[in-house]
Amino acid sequence: MKSLSLLLLCLGINIITLAQKNIVIYSPDTRIALQVYVQPNGVLQYDILYRQKKLIKPSSLGFKLSKPALTLNHFSLISVDTATHFDTWNPVWGEVKTITNHYKEVKLNLKATPSNVLVQVVFRVFNDGVGFRYEFPEQANFKHFIVADELTQFNLAGNNKTFWIPGDYDTNEYLYNTTKFSEIHALAASNQEKDIALKSVIGDNFVQTPLMMKTPEGIYVNIHEAALVNYPVMHLQADRQNFKLLSHLTPDAVGNKAYLQTPAKTPWRTIIISDKATDILASKTILNLNEPSKIENTAWIKPQKFIGMWWEMHVGKATWEKASGKHGANTENVKKYIDFAADNGFDGVLVEGWNEGWEDWFGNWKEDVFDFVTPYSDYNLDELLAYAKQRGVKIIMHHETSGSAINYERRIDKAYQFLNEKGINTVKTGYVGRIIPRGEHHDSQWMVNHYNRVADKAVEYKIMLEAHESSRPTGLHRTYPNWLANEAARGNEFNNAPTLGLVPEHETILPFTRLMGGPMDYTPGFFKMNLNQFIPERTTRVRTTLAKQLAMYVTMYSPLQMVGDLPENLKVHPDALQFIKDVPVDWDDTKILAAEPGDYITTARKQKGKDNWFVGAVTDENARKLTVNFNFLPKGVKYQAIIYKDADNADWKTNPEAYRIEKQEVDSSTVLDLNLAKGGGFAISLFKL
Ligand code: NOJ
Ligand code: CA
Repeated sequence: MKSLSLLLLCLGINIITLAQKNIVIYSPDTRIALQVYVQPNGVLQYDILYRQKKLIKPSSLGFKLSKPALTLNHFSLISVDTATHFDTWNPVWGEVKTITNHYKEVKLNLKATPSNVLVQVVFRVFNDGVGFRYEFPEQANFKHFIVADELTQFNLAGNNKTFWIPGDYDTNEYLYNTTKFSEIHALAASNQEKDIALKSVIGDNFVQTPLMMKTPEGIYVNIHEAALVNYPVMHLQADRQNFKLLSHLTPDAVGNKAYLQTPAKTPWRTIIISDKATDILASKTILNLNEPSKIENTAWIKPQKFIGMWWEMHVGKATWEKASGKHGANTENVKKYIDFAADNGFDGVLVEGWNEGWEDWFGNWKEDVFDFVTPYSDYNLDELLAYAKQRGVKIIMHHETSGSAINYERRIDKAYQFLNEKGINTVKTGYVGRIIPRGEHHDSQWMVNHYNRVADKAVEYKIMLEAHESSRPTGLHRTYPNWLANEAARGNEFNNAPTLGLVPEHETILPFTRLMGGPMDYTPGFFKMNLNQFIPERTTRVRTTLAKQLAMYVTMYSPLQMVGDLPENLKVHPDALQFIKDVPVDWDDTKILAAEPGDYITTARKQKGKDNWFVGAVTDENARKLTVNFNFLPKGVKYQAIIYKDADNADWKTNPEAYRIEKQEVDSSTVLDLNLAKGGGFAISLFKL
């Protein structure tokens, strides 16, 4: 025992009292202290101190299995392995060029009592948080098992301010609610939502991750998961009186949670912590907990900016289906999009409604809707591909599965061979509606495996991927750099939803929640805010100013950025469009200058391989002044700043399209105060002089 303690001390791990088997690991900067211990009665617990103050109270770990019928929640500690890790790596694309991965690790080798099942729990403590996962090593008497429940607790030290959406097995497209933890009421929130295609809300006290919180003392805490592979999505059950959270896994069609076989490991449970909100947005811990890229030669993977034969259908100018007589995806119309993309230097044109099947694609739980290879007769794909090639633009393929994942899997090889033949290298998938295999949920283990199988297929065929209506990301884009983005949250398109639509604070919350796991195809770039252009009785509208739509190209990180609006609306403001043309989709460096979830975010980013910087700032429903200190610029270098800001009389509600463009010279000593309108923002491009 003594020698063990000495060894642990040498490795930077302090034993408080070995008799109680308490193990404390500090983050490399010592701000976070994680304590793990097996209680005398065998209960395994951890707790977390941040700057010496309790942040997570004693929280138990364990499992309930249905086959074999065992509860693994009492353990004896066999041994402890420790390690310190430091390295750096370069993502294929991202917010920064180089990522540092520095943590202290402790692995507990445990034996469950009385079953003797061997379980390991691995904790990694980073400067900005903690990740831990369970591992089930190979062992003689325990091979195949079915998880009935994971018993992981996150017991909070107080009644945190909480940014939450209802726990739901099938959708993450909710508006965020901001309440005290004790005031989470998921059913009431869910009942207000009339425009979500399919809801499977779990119960009044269930919420989703990433869950963002702020303690009464002002510490920011984010709970999520990393590397979700062969396991269902974790939701959280809230004990509102005692401020406790318990993991709740998404069940499958017969009520089981996960089918595993040793050796097996769960995803990482992540707790990102800082006293600065900006650090939460800058955290790379979730990425660091994912495995390195599966793809060796990544030369074919390219971040992209694109427009779409898409919003036309949403705002009622055209339809996806041909039978209506208003079919949007016809050859002539798509040529106009190709021209617009080429004229403005955009990489791609997404075309939705190109293929047969849209006449009854939704709402019937129908298995065979699309074959993914048959264009409508008025869509001449070969002619368009030739035209696009001539104009230097790529066509982006759309594979709406309407939830029939089984149909997609059956047809995916043919569909991707078709893409290879046609020279198409990017696909947007979609999972609107009830899942087939029937009874599965968007978040169940089978579907998690489906999204990952599709990503593997995309690797095989060298295709870049983005998925809508999938489960929310968990940093797997490190492992699959061809998986550029997901929707998996309430996107900008929800501005067109008749009941609740969006609210101006939405884009100040998403980076702290959904985006913690990975990039989002949010589809910014709306210039026309009243959405009654084609259907006069429509009352839907965009809840931002135009300047804020520009700012989101910087504040909402994605290597795949759409330019959402119709060409005819974008053309009305060529000077504002210039920012979208200039803003890159890949970066060498990112500085989160200021942030408060639910209120505002200011972000600066340096273009990959160039000296240019871009700044974006967004506010909620409140007008406010934000200060930009340009000290992130290199010293002594002059930059031309082009500032796209809300006009003095702009207001998301009454005057959303009013903006001003100003130019001025700045350098690293410049400090600017800029006014944001209600629901507004600003965007700045900085070109080296
Ligand atoms: C929902 C997606 O989010 C949207 O972008 C798409 O246009 C429709 N489904 C149709 O696939
Ligand atoms: Ca607010």
